Amino acid sequence: MSKVTVVGAGNVGATCANVLTTCSIADEVVLLDIKEGVSEGKAMDIMQTAAILNTSTVLRGVTNDYSATADSDVVVITSGIPRKPGMTREELIGVNAGIVKSVTEQLLKFSPNAIIICISNPMDTMTYLIHKVSGLPKNRIIGMGGALDSARFKYFLSQALGANATEVEGIVIGGHGDTTMIPLTRYAAYRGVPATNYLDAETLGKVAADTMVGGATLTKLLGTSAWYAPGAAGAQMVKAVLHNEKKLISCSALLDGEYGEKDLCIGVPAIIGRNGIEKIVEFDLNDEEKALFHKSAEAVHKTNDALAGAL
Ligand code: 2OP
Repeated sequence: MSKVTVVGAGNVGATCANVLTTCSIADEVVLLDIKEGVSEGKAMDIMQTAAILNTSTVLRGVTNDYSATADSDVVVITSGIPRKPGMTREELIGVNAGIVKSVTEQLLKFSPNAIIICISNPMDTMTYLIHKVSGLPKNRIIGMGGALDSARFKYFLSQALGANATEVEGIVIGGHGDTTMIPLTRYAAYRGVPATNYLDAETLGKVAADTMVGGATLTKLLGTSAWYAPGAAGAQMVKAVLHNEKKLISCSALLDGEYGEKDLCIGVPAIIGRNGIEKIVEFDLNDEEKALFHKSAEAVHKTNDALAGAL
């Protein structure tokens, strides 16, 4: 029996629970929210698709009852406020730090062995905060950003190539911020053939730029931040853990010298399996990519410094 808890029944949390349920990724899913009725209602709505979509996962919504989350194998934290048009993810730190800290403590009381997946923004800093408040081994805390950013990169690549997104390779490393993420265009490929064989530098540059502001573009269009791809990216990570997939997924991981950085969580390629982050994979970066990664790490450190005032 596998059990997953998703905290936060907002758009992202509910979408994550929906994918976990409708794709039968876990046996049991608990969706928890502080707002009376919301998680119960969304869970019931999702469960009413079971007969249509032929799924077997049991999803339950609860209001703030952490005892219902007991013995979860994986917990997904989506709590906190989303950004509004014009806001950066970093501006959310004041409100979201306190929420994520308290949610982490409550979850671990009932599921001391869980793998934690963090989606709350600013995601790299919230992932780092979870390390600080929990003291868990670093493999057990995974930040979702790189999975989402890489999915957006593959989307824009597939559009430029006129190809199916599942046949395109693309990975984004660095911070999950509009100016800190690094789409690795040099490693982008279509069916193993470098994307540079098909797309000129200007087109690839536009693909990268669109990827970096992918979240901001949607926030502008929607009036709040996106949820379908963020929720699905969280579910993709849960699946990699529960099914011990050993997939290479970009995620925010605590670094201890990898890529020349330490004491921060930032997006790097990693093998995700039953033990969470099983291995950080060090890509061979050129000087320009190394400089971008270092700059990105400096920006993430700066946001982390604001944690002291936020808690
Ligand atoms: C995004 O990029 C929610 O941070 C998330 O859409």
